[in-house]
Amino acid sequence: MLLSVPVKMAGVVYNQGNRMREMLRFRLEFRPRPDDIYIATYPKSGTTWTQMLLVQLLSKGDAEFDHILQKSPYLEECIKNQRFAYLERLPSPRILKTHLPYGALRPAKDSRILFITRDAKDTFVSCYHHFELARRWRSPFDRFISEMVRGRGFFMSWYQYMREWMPHRSDSNVLWVRYEDMRKDLEGQARRIAAFLGIPVPEERMAAILEKCSFEYMRQHDHKFDFRTAIYEESPGTFIRQGGKGGPKQPLRAEDVAELEKNLAKLRGELHLKETEVY
Ligand code: A3P
Repeated sequence: MLLSVPVKMAGVVYNQGNRMREMLRFRLEFRPRPDDIYIATYPKSGTTWTQMLLVQLLSKGDAEFDHILQKSPYLEECIKNQRFAYLERLPSPRILKTHLPYGALRPAKDSRILFITRDAKDTFVSCYHHFELARRWRSPFDRFISEMVRGRGFFMSWYQYMREWMPHRSDSNVLWVRYEDMRKDLEGQARRIAAFLGIPVPEERMAAILEKCSFEYMRQHDHKFDFRTAIYEESPGTFIRQGGKGGPKQPLRAEDVAELEKNLAKLRGELHLKETEVY
């Protein structure tokens, strides 16, 4: 287990100090463009899926790549590795994946943001498998979940992330998309996203695009999405894991479920949200 050293900056507590350094570099060196498109998520909430959807919509289903990050880079990774020249060379519109909290992002005035959220429990469980894959977590499942539920997991507290982003979900430059709605009706959400971004819907290619964004297709091409392929240079595993499909789920301990419900209720109260808005 990595030690989590909470750091506070601009009113936000980061569970890992390196996040703060990334933010500082970002503020100093990143040059935003008005036509940038951001995909903003708490990790494991459907980021890669949305990247794929956008890449395919913009290319009318023709995009070919070895790894999705070639088409849609991870902003913080670029910042950490000082790849600012690379970011400069990317053609417009850039599709930038980011897990930065709202206050840390510095979009140009006209940039659009897709803000994606997912059920908290599913997000935490997916985080567990992610960190296990990355070999950054070797402790039992229950301990990991217990930390996440109490806002002390990796990255920053999920509640804090939501506290930052949710008040902006209806801003004119933000489109809020729920992972579960993509699962229910991917085509509907694809059209909604295209309308928001002003991308003409390639009707004759829509079926092919949706097929490429299906769980089955993405799972078959897991190596194009697995973060280790790009970053850790290990052999690909099962990054596209369960995808919210049925199957046996690891049960959460009753005490963790109760704590989560209590914290969700508190968050809803604070932000005046409905049950369907943070869940
Ligand atoms: P699970 O671990 O629950 O399976 P992110 O891209 O933000 O890291 O999110 C990863 C989660 O999105 C994983 O969830 C992954 O399986 C799921 N996912 C990726 N592509 C998907 C798709 N086409 N359909 C449904 N879920 C998808």
